[in-house]
Amino acid sequence: MNTKEDYIGVFDSGVGGISVLRHLRRVMPNERFLYYGDSANAPYGIRTKAEVQALSFAVVEKLMARGLKALVIACNTATSAAVKELREKYPDLIIVGIEPALKLAADRYPGGGIGVMATPMTLSEEKFARLLHRYDVTCDIYKIPAPRLVEIVEAGKVDTRRTIDMLQRLFTPYRGRLDALVLGCTHYPFASHTISRILGGQVDILDGGDGTARETRRRLDEAGLLREGPGEVVIENSWNSPEILRLSWRLLEGKSLTNHWKEEKDGK
Ligand code: DGL
Repeated sequence: MNTKEDYIGVFDSGVGGISVLRHLRRVMPNERFLYYGDSANAPYGIRTKAEVQALSFAVVEKLMARGLKALVIACNTATSAAVKELREKYPDLIIVGIEPALKLAADRYPGGGIGVMATPMTLSEEKFARLLHRYDVTCDIYKIPAPRLVEIVEAGKVDTRRTIDMLQRLFTPYRGRLDALVLGCTHYPFASHTISRILGGQVDILDGGDGTARETRRRLDEAGLLREGPGEVVIENSWNSPEILRLSWRLLEGKSLTNHWKEEKDGK
């Protein structure tokens, strides 16, 4: 039996889902969040579907043992590979999975050019194909896989010359074609200021974090499971190192990554 005091479990292949946790905490400040990043097994996006399913099941089993009233899959890749199977395994649990915010972009720019940047797995899965076909009649949609950006965010190195060069090359074919860019991987919002600098201010950069947080709130409210009192965040990671936990808290607190590794090296 779920209680209001149980955790909201949030998981991702690594630190990316913290971009969703930020929205969750903003929308539900009184909740207890248990965040699990599976950085030891990241990136998920270049693995097989069966591997991502097995990894997701293992993480969720661990979280369930701690007492959950809801699960947020803060990973587009894991949602596309495993949300259906997780819902079958845990029919009584509220499960919300993030998806690329294509609807938001298509509603905002009818007939426009929309880039969807995500992992190769998200872009090749059936779930995304269905979403795409709903909007590609009216809009020009471009799939932009960016697996390396996941590792760059995991390493906390979004502002380096190499990252900027890589992103410049990635976006060259889409210059002048995009009204909006959907960040369909939860790691990418941590590089959004760099992406925005490269694309120029006229491209609207969107992600599904806010929608996922609101949907989670709505489902908990409907079930009478919203909590009162002071909130709490616990962060755990399969790569059980102080560095990855420091990076996670830094991302949660919205601190810039620019000096992160210098400070790590200097022991600050
Ligand atoms: N953050 C994840 C997502 O939203 C995936 C990153 C990875 O490839 O591990 O898709």
